[in-house]
Amino acid sequence: MSNATPPVVPTSPHVMNTYGRLPIALTHGQGCKVWDTNGREYLDGLGGIAVNTLGHNHPRLVPALQEQLTRMIHSSNYYHVPLQETLASLLVERSGMHSVFFCSTGLEANEAALKLARKFGHDKGIERPEVVVYEKAFHGRSIATLSATGNPKVQAGFAPLVEGFIRVPINNLAALKAATENNPNVVAVFFEAIQGEGGIHAMQADYLRDVRALCDQRDWLMMIDEVQCGMGRTGKWFAHQWAGIQPDVMPLAKGLGSGVPVGAVVVGPKAASIFQPGNHGSTFGGNPLSMRAGVETIRIMEEDGLLENATRVGAHLRACLAQGLAAEIASGGVKEIRGQGLMLGIDLAVPCSVLMQRAADAGLLLSVTADTVVRLVPPLILSLQEAEQIAALLCPLISTLLKENT
Ligand SMILES: Cc1ncc(COP(=O)(O)O)c(C=O)c1O
Repeated sequence: MSNATPPVVPTSPHVMNTYGRLPIALTHGQGCKVWDTNGREYLDGLGGIAVNTLGHNHPRLVPALQEQLTRMIHSSNYYHVPLQETLASLLVERSGMHSVFFCSTGLEANEAALKLARKFGHDKGIERPEVVVYEKAFHGRSIATLSATGNPKVQAGFAPLVEGFIRVPINNLAALKAATENNPNVVAVFFEAIQGEGGIHAMQADYLRDVRALCDQRDWLMMIDEVQCGMGRTGKWFAHQWAGIQPDVMPLAKGLGSGVPVGAVVVGPKAASIFQPGNHGSTFGGNPLSMRAGVETIRIMEEDGLLENATRVGAHLRACLAQGLAAEIASGGVKEIRGQGLMLGIDLAVPCSVLMQRAADAGLLLSVTADTVVRLVPPLILSLQEAEQIAALLCPLISTLLKENT
C-alpha cells in the first residue's frame, strides 16, 4: 500500500525564480549521504557545490556549533571578536600570508579583493586602475564580480558592467603581456587557480610562477580566487601552493565553514595596509558562529588528514572514472577527465545537463557546468569505497548519453 504512494514533488511558489532547480528537496544527511522528503537516499558527489567539506552531521563539528550557538551567534565588528583572531591565525599559518578580512560569501570576498586592487592603484596615484581577468572565469554575481566573470550568460541583462577589466585567455603569458603592454593603469591580475564554473580548467604551475614574476616586476597585485578550489579540495590547503608561489590577495569562502557561510580575504604583506578603518566592512562578516565553523573545520581537517584524503581518494575516483569510461575516452565521447584532488571535471563531446537529473534518479548528486562538463566536488571525507560507488553510478549514465547522441 505505502509503496503505491506517489512521490511528493516539491514546489516553492513564493521563492523568487532564480534557479533551474531539480524537483528534489533534501532534508538531512549523514557523512556523504543525503535524503530527500520522499525518503530517497543519494550519494553526495556535489557537497553543496564544494561547500560541505566535512560532509553532513559531522560528529565533531555539530556539537561544537551547538555549543557556540548557546554562547553567541553574532556580536558586531564594533568590538573585537576573539574567534576572528583564532581563525585568521590558522589561515595565515597555512597560507604563509599576513592577515585576513572576514565576510560571508565568495562574491563578497571577491568584491573586497577588487576594492583592494583599486585602492592599491589610487594609493600609487593611478586614477583609473585596471584589473586583468580571464576568459571563462567565474567570480560571483554582484555587479562588480559578474563584470570580472568571463561568461556572457552571467552578464546578459546587467549592463552597464563595471569598467576597468582587461580580459585574457588562461595559461598564455604572451597574451597577458600583450594585453597589458605600455598600460600604466594595470594594478592587479585576478584569477581562479582552477576555474570551477568555467569547466574545471587549471592554471599551469609554470604559468602561475611566470605571472608571479611579472606581478613582482610590474608592481601588480596577484589575486587568486580560491573560493572553490581552496580549503584542501586539491590536496593542499590552497591550489596555488602546488606551484610553490604565494599570491598577494586570496579570496576564500565555500568550504571554509563546512556549510556555515564564511568568506575571507587573506592578504600578503603587499596588500596588508591598503584598507584602513572605514574603507571596508561587513555586518555579518566574522561573527562568532561563522568563525567557530571555520576554526573547527580546519582543526577537524587536520586531525582527520583530509588533505591527504582529498589526494588519495581523488586519485582513486579519477582512476575509477578513467577505467569505467575507457571505451568512451577511446571513442572521443569523453574528451578529458581533469582537475585535482576532489575537484574533478569530466568533459564530454556533447552537452550533458540532463545528467544532473539522471544521476539523481540513480541516487547520485553532481552538477554540470559549462554545458559539457560533469563536475564532482564531494565532501573531503569521501571514502575510497564511496569514490568507487560514484564511478559505478556515473559511468553507465555517461555511456548511455553518448550512445543517444551518436
Ligand atoms: C571561484 C568562485 N568565486 C566566487 C564564487 C561566488 O561565491 P558565492 O556564490 O559564495 O558568492 C564562486 C561560486 O561558485 C566561485 O566558484
